Amino acid sequence: MGWLFLKVLFMGATFLGGLYPLVDFCCSGDTRGQKPNFVIILADDMGWGDLGANWAETKDTANLDEMAAEGMRFVDFHAAASTCSPSRASLLTGRLGLRNGVTHNFGVTSVGGLPLNETTLAEVLRQAGYVTGMIGKWHLGHNGSYHPNFRGFDYYFGIPYSHDMGCTDTPGYNHPPCPACPRGDTPSRNLKRHCYTDVALPLYENLSIVEQPVNLTRLAQKYAEKATQFIHRASASGRPFFLYVGLAHMHVPLSGTWHCADPRGRGPYRAGLREMDSLVGQIKDKVDHTARENTLIWFAGDNGPWAQKCELAGSVGPFTGSWQTRQGGSAAKQTTWEGGHRVPALAYWPGTVPLNVTSTALLSVLDLFPTVVALAGASFPRDRHFDGLDVSAVLFGRSQTGHRVLFHPNSGAAGEYGALQTVRLGRHKAFYITGGAQACDGKVGPAWRHEPPLIFNLEEDAAEAEPLGGGGAEYQRVLPKVREVLAEVLLDIAADKTSRADYTQDPLVTPCCDPHQRACRCPAT
Ligand SMILES: *[C@@H]1O[C@H](CO)[C@@H](O)[C@H](O)[C@H]1NC(C)=O
Ligand SMILES: *[C@@H]1O[C@H](CO)[C@@H](O)[C@H](O)[C@H]1NC(C)=O
Ligand SMILES: *[C@@H]1O[C@H](CO)[C@@H](O)[C@H](O)[C@H]1NC(C)=O
Ligand SMILES: *[C@@H]1O[C@H](CO)[C@@H](O)[C@H](O)[C@H]1NC(C)=O
Ligand SMILES: *[C@@H]1O[C@H](CO)[C@@H](O)[C@H](O)[C@H]1NC(C)=O
Repeated sequence: MGWLFLKVLFMGATFLGGLYPLVDFCCSGDTRGQKPNFVIILADDMGWGDLGANWAETKDTANLDEMAAEGMRFVDFHAAASTCSPSRASLLTGRLGLRNGVTHNFGVTSVGGLPLNETTLAEVLRQAGYVTGMIGKWHLGHNGSYHPNFRGFDYYFGIPYSHDMGCTDTPGYNHPPCPACPRGDTPSRNLKRHCYTDVALPLYENLSIVEQPVNLTRLAQKYAEKATQFIHRASASGRPFFLYVGLAHMHVPLSGTWHCADPRGRGPYRAGLREMDSLVGQIKDKVDHTARENTLIWFAGDNGPWAQKCELAGSVGPFTGSWQTRQGGSAAKQTTWEGGHRVPALAYWPGTVPLNVTSTALLSVLDLFPTVVALAGASFPRDRHFDGLDVSAVLFGRSQTGHRVLFHPNSGAAGEYGALQTVRLGRHKAFYITGGAQACDGKVGPAWRHEPPLIFNLEEDAAEAEPLGGGGAEYQRVLPKVREVLAEVLLDIAADKTSRADYTQDPLVTPCCDPHQRACRCPAT
């Protein structure tokens, strides 16, 4: 275990009032000494403002708002990256992309995935006796042993990447419209000639493709059924369980059955939000009826809204990144502006997580790994460093203290993938590189290096509109601290075991139910 991690543990321990075994305060709702169950639900491209409890304009998340009233809502909670694969890799490993090797997205033809010697949360929990299941979007590689069934999950049901990475028979919305799958049994002969959008979207159960193309109209209902079945069976088995649900929502609405009066307005996005909310509500209901007092449900977003999709993208709430948007480009998904990585987050565990509490602690998706591992009484891989904190004291209402420092890696808006270009330090945030993602108008805006960095005070300027003046006392006070923490983490990463993901592509790894059918359709459909 590295010194940074130890230091971080001690910081954690300080706010708990001293070092004592985690089990002493773990699981107060549990009287039988049984390990707690964990349900982690990750939404896709959901904006901070898409949660009604965060943002009064949003009125489509009744179940999530209820969960907030019955649990804890985090308002300063951050994804570990601003795009899908790196954010998910960090959730499952507790490590930044510079350590685990996943710095940008995998594609349909990606040969690799999350490096095989990175240890996932599912592997750690399975080792500790847990039944493990994953439902939904994986996006950490699907070729051979990169598939979730080889990464610690006993059970898998889902689309291995995003639901717009392939054609379907019900393509519906999206900008530009997703193509419908070609029909007919003309053998595709050579998959190499096909762009991935010509290959039908696959749905897996464990290692088998059970539907291709997926019927997106029924997908949310299927995810709900499989999730409730998993919880039911796992509870009946008498073993503790870990269920990780990677929702297909929000991303971009694709299903064609949402009849909206205004198909090019907010209607389709709001219908998608309600569908997602209902799916989460069904999972929570199942937990409430099966293992209510002994299950932690942790809901979070994977990154901010996909602004280039215009009215089919979510809301950043007050985190508009207006310094960037003034120059062009979006300040949401893919960027290190708040709209890119500050995400909605909730924790629910009746009897253990206090009711109706809003936490302002600075937290990260990176904290799920150490927190869950500690609550499970499981053990960490000791040969590498971690970036998260065990924040169970925050969850239990005993502390308001999270991170002092977070690092936000570049996820494609500007600069090198994975580079720690933005530093959060208390209420301040320093940018060494700025750049926008593609906005609704198609513009990305200029990418700029800043040395010395631009520094914003988020407490006074949530919109990141005006950086502090470089000559001012506040700037001069913060700058040396920013430099110090950045130098520290870079040294630590240099001394750590760091993995590299294989980003090479080969059309032969495209998931295909039947290569003799056009679009790789399953013969049955
Ligand atoms: C992935 O696919 C390639 C074919 O391009 C194959 O050679 C390789 O062994 C596969 N990798 C794994 C880890 O299974
Ligand atoms: C998936 O794999 C798990 C674990 O091996 C097994 O219990 C389950 O029956 C499998 N499900 C299906 C539908 O194949
Ligand atoms: C998809 O599922 C819906 C709802 O069950 C059904 O009405 C529709 O016909 C299905 N679409 C296709 C292409 O099978
Ligand atoms: C939750 O707290 C808020 C503000 O503290 C209060 O207005 C609201 O009534 C509470 N809701 C419930 C369900 O207790
Ligand atoms: C994974 O393997 C690579 C290549 O051998 C190595 O450099 C890296 O440190 C390993 N990662 C871990 C976490 O052990």
